[in-house]
Amino acid sequence: MPTPLAAPLTLPCGATLRNRIAKSAMSEDLADAGGAPGERLSRLYARWGAGGAGLLITGNVMIDRTALGEAGNVVIEDDRNLEALARMAAAGKAGGAAVWPQINHPGRQTPRFLARVPVAPSAVPLTLSGAVFAPPRALESAEISELITRFGRAAGICRRAGFDGVQIHGAHGYLVSQFLSPLTNLRTDDWGGDPERRRRFLIGIVRAMRAEVGPGFPIGVKLNSADFQRGGFDEEESMAVVVALEAEGVDLLEISGGTYERPATSGTIRQTRASTLAREAFFLEYARKVRARTRMPLLLTGGFRTRAGMESALTEGPDGRGAVDMIGLARPLAQEPELARGLLDGSVSESRVRPRRTGFTQLDSLLEITWYSYQIHRIGNGKEPAPGVSPWWVLAKMVWRALASRRAAPPLHPRRDIHPSA
Ligand SMILES: Cc1cc2nc3c(=O)[nH]c(=O)nc-3n(C[C@H](O)[C@H](O)[C@H](O)COP(=O)(O)O)c2cc1C
Repeated sequence: MPTPLAAPLTLPCGATLRNRIAKSAMSEDLADAGGAPGERLSRLYARWGAGGAGLLITGNVMIDRTALGEAGNVVIEDDRNLEALARMAAAGKAGGAAVWPQINHPGRQTPRFLARVPVAPSAVPLTLSGAVFAPPRALESAEISELITRFGRAAGICRRAGFDGVQIHGAHGYLVSQFLSPLTNLRTDDWGGDPERRRRFLIGIVRAMRAEVGPGFPIGVKLNSADFQRGGFDEEESMAVVVALEAEGVDLLEISGGTYERPATSGTIRQTRASTLAREAFFLEYARKVRARTRMPLLLTGGFRTRAGMESALTEGPDGRGAVDMIGLARPLAQEPELARGLLDGSVSESRVRPRRTGFTQLDSLLEITWYSYQIHRIGNGKEPAPGVSPWWVLAKMVWRALASRRAAPPLHPRRDIHPSA
């Protein structure tokens, strides 16, 4: 019997994805100094595109070159990178996958060396080291409208570059998620004060994008089930956002969780009392609740490693409809770029990726990110992943590289229109 992973999926806008495996976003940090993707990104996406997944969601693509999450993010502000973007899209699509850029703004989650005064809904600093993250200033109302326009414009440019859809990064504590959380959004104007106003920024972005891309082009959203912080964005508020996104005609909702302060995506924070499948897929319980409330197609990411676990999430329940419609894989595809093909043709039953744990949540999260980034860079450079390499060696190498690029970086020149007081 063919695996349910191989079934095509038609989205509300009419576009069809060739199967149920998505490569979830992983920041590549491989763009040039102008935010343009080059050969390394084309090589990387060609490899992933040939690897069998139906959908490739790119790593963070930023809408403002003065607000990056990491040095080396792709930036889309206007048409200047259009040709480079078109080459990247064509490379990823060559093997038959759909490619969707993940559109993002980091807000306060930008390192100090990239933005001296980051912007955020309110001037609430991260509880992480002030040496790394500078305190943000609150956005002015006109700037918020300008940012929504930028998100919309970026989506339109993606469409013209030949990408097949876009995803809004509404998770992991970046700007959209900062607007959604009552801990980071203390505003009492049109953009905060109650759940409906906290989600206006996200809803405004969906509408601005739809106006730019038209009805037949997929728009997805990555959303936190919760931030896992007391008094923060909780499941109930997240569910209300889900209902609102369905009313806006969002095509694919990706479920995730956590922030820089509470990094839940690497599996370092999760319940231990749970079924085997729920232990494999971090946010499955929440996905089941979402399924009961909406018909919006769902993509679940975080922890999937076995074909049996993935198939069960796609088919469970009395009607066989499953808890979700698609399975998202991130770290496994950085180490095993052809994993999707093996899962689809039955030659592989599980990923060989295993967690590395010191017991210190922040450190574990950092070790995971740097180790998988290293593998991504290797693929971009035309090499094979190196699963045997020590995470400590990789961490030291990445820190050295970051310090070197910091010394070489030109001084920051924040633009007046977006950061008037920076
Ligand atoms: C190196 C690396 C970079 C990541 N970058 C992003 C990103 O740009 N955007 C995003 O939404 N998630 C990002 N993530 C999180 C993944 O998309 C995913 O949610 C997480 O790794 C859990 O899925 P997994 O267990 O399949 O790896 C990143 C993860 C890793 C390891």
